[in-house]
Amino acid sequence: MSKQILVTGGTGYIGSHTVVELQNEGFDVVIVDDLSNSNIDVLDAIEKITGKRPAFEKFNLADREKTNVFFEQYKNIDAVIHFAAYKAVGESVQKPLEYYRNNLVSLMNLLENMKKHRVSNLVFSSSCTVYGQPDQLPVTESTPRKPAESPYGNTKAVSEDIMRDFSHANEGINCIALRYFNPIGAHPSALIGEFPVGVPNNLVPFITQTAAGLRDELKIFGADYDTPDGTAIRDYINVVDLAKAHVVSINRLLENKQQSSYEFFNVGTGNGYSVMQLVKTFIKVNGVDVKYQITDRRAGDIEKIWADTTLANEELGWEAEKTLEETLESAWAWEKKVRNIK
Ligand code: UD1
Repeated sequence: MSKQILVTGGTGYIGSHTVVELQNEGFDVVIVDDLSNSNIDVLDAIEKITGKRPAFEKFNLADREKTNVFFEQYKNIDAVIHFAAYKAVGESVQKPLEYYRNNLVSLMNLLENMKKHRVSNLVFSSSCTVYGQPDQLPVTESTPRKPAESPYGNTKAVSEDIMRDFSHANEGINCIALRYFNPIGAHPSALIGEFPVGVPNNLVPFITQTAAGLRDELKIFGADYDTPDGTAIRDYINVVDLAKAHVVSINRLLENKQQSSYEFFNVGTGNGYSVMQLVKTFIKVNGVDVKYQITDRRAGDIEKIWADTTLANEELGWEAEKTLEETLESAWAWEKKVRNIK
């Protein structure tokens, strides 16, 4: 019988790509999502890509009662991938309690039910934000974490601590936190992708919306950083590559291959690109114009970060495969599809 995976936040950006990869590998998927930042139509797209419609339940996992009822109903879950969380850095500064409540209580409700129903395995969406501005680059998993710059970032750090403590206290509970660098791009089918509500906070959706004519110009936040061209550097990881990192993590847990009950891995490409390099590459590979202007730095941004991915390469047997060029092509193909641009 195929293994059943609960994917929370499975209609969201990274979640939907991961559901596709799981179903392609023969897993049975049940999605829980409150649709607060995603659309139910994503289920049609997943079905179109994989030929299979995942089970779906709509509720917020911070609701303890609803989470308990869910686990009473779904008795055959083998593992959980927990994506469902709020993720806007700026908004988290304005609404810290909403972020702490949603992001932390949902994790605690899940862990409580995993223990009760003997579900052993959890893969969690963490972030390179836990490193802050590291003293040395690239960052390895032994690079120390730094105090979070935002409530959002702090929910990731505290979630990691909760999983570490809970898995140590409860034999049979195993967790893997994946520290994502900057996920970008879309599925090659252009049937799923990133679809931010309102004005995008993140770089690539802002670029694709500017190219599509929805925004007048991109603001490049700062060109006076200590980097070769003065703009900030990140490690941009293709969302399908990232989705595959979840599948290998699930297999590692199901096959009991983990070295300890709580593990964490960097999930990036190992390459850093500057904002300017990214914008120029987008313009070149897609043959479209993106107007941009250099403005002040954005509060809370770090100067540069990229991953050392040795541990994920060696332990998970995973590495990023897609180039930045093809990833930026996929991002534009998706935006064109959404906006009906030929
Ligand atoms: C941030 C968070 C990350 C979180 C992610 C998802 C930090 C350090 N990082 O990543 O943890 O998971 O958001 O929301 O908190 N930029 C522009 N113009 C724009 C938008 C962005 O120049 O209109 C620049 C930024 O200044 C940055 C780079 O592009 O240098 C990437 O920005 P963004 O896509 O927002 O991601 P991060 O801030 O790296």
